[in-house]
Amino acid sequence: MRKVKVAVLMGGKSPEHEISLISGREVVRNLDKSKYTPLPVVISRDGSKWRLTDAKSIFSLPDPIKARSKKKEIVPLSYKEITGANNLSRGVDVAFIAMHGPYGEDGTIQGMLELSGVKYTGSKVLASALGMDKIKFRELLKGRSIPIPKYIVVKRGEKVRNLKELGRPPYFVKPYNLGSSVGASIARKKSELKNALRLAFEYGNIALVDEYLKGKELTVSVIGNEDPKALPVIEIRPLKGEFFDYESKYSESGAKEIVPARLSKKLTRKVQQLAIEVYKAIGTSGFGRVDFILKENKYPYVLEINTIPGLTPMSLLPKAAAAAGISYPKLLERIIKYALEK
Ligand SMILES: Nc1ncnc2c1ncn2[C@@H]1O[C@H](COP(=O)(O)OP(=O)(O)O)[C@@H](O)[C@H]1O
Ligand SMILES: [Mg+2]
Repeated sequence: MRKVKVAVLMGGKSPEHEISLISGREVVRNLDKSKYTPLPVVISRDGSKWRLTDAKSIFSLPDPIKARSKKKEIVPLSYKEITGANNLSRGVDVAFIAMHGPYGEDGTIQGMLELSGVKYTGSKVLASALGMDKIKFRELLKGRSIPIPKYIVVKRGEKVRNLKELGRPPYFVKPYNLGSSVGASIARKKSELKNALRLAFEYGNIALVDEYLKGKELTVSVIGNEDPKALPVIEIRPLKGEFFDYESKYSESGAKEIVPARLSKKLTRKVQQLAIEVYKAIGTSGFGRVDFILKENKYPYVLEINTIPGLTPMSLLPKAAAAAGISYPKLLERIIKYALEK
């Protein structure tokens, strides 16, 4: 049988550039080589250069996390420069988008692939855009009585209004359209709000200020197109940071993950049901992951959906899949199957 040619897109113009390189590398490593031919494509930090390379060059890239602090361009040893998605329409069966954050997870690259007629993994343009924009996402959920934190929207340069609606501090501040907890922090007191906002504004002009929810953190991965299924619930206990911050997410001993989460059957079902509802509400396809906080360890509140959750060895979706008896290579196979039938 002819092998399926999979362009694995990674890197790109996002603060999550490095995480994407790790996700991409693991996708390349774990694709079943008896069925697929991976064609890794490393997209430069400014998004302008698409470097088609090979598996060997991908595994010899410098440690992306170390390169992050230096903002150095990560270039594979050998590559051929291609001009965006147009080149992919010839000779590639499907693009596996292993990219996170703006220009990867937000519908833009999805639109580019649509225009070029290239099939791709995960959500289409609209669901990707809604998943990335935490404000539009929440507005959509409000109409469906899905519990979300109380929040206000603050624009750079404008006064903070209606803070009273959130009650007393602490507050949780984050950019409205990023992931990986980039730019997110807790304001324990009202006086800390200014600095927290300043941090969020380093990444854009709009920030969210949430009521601070106290309780267990849960995450539910969902896979499928028309009839999506929830995987086992994972409970996250950050060990390094005060919350599930960048460091906790990506360092070896940053967080403890408990699979399945220690919840009653009833609560487990409820959280999984909510995750599926959220997944369907924005029209997610292929795969996704919904983050929750279980307020007072009883009431699930939806924080966000990730339409391209992390695919690193430590990532939550592969762990949830493993707990359901789906190995990482099999998970990738399913994701590609969903892409081809989308
Ligand atoms: N309202 C909130 N109350 C308490 N913690 C929060 C709140 N919002 C976010 N967090 C913490 O910040 C992390 C990142 O927030 P999230 O909304 O999932 O954004 P992203 O993962 O896209 O950066 C969460 O996993 C959680 O630890
Ligand atoms: Mg999250």
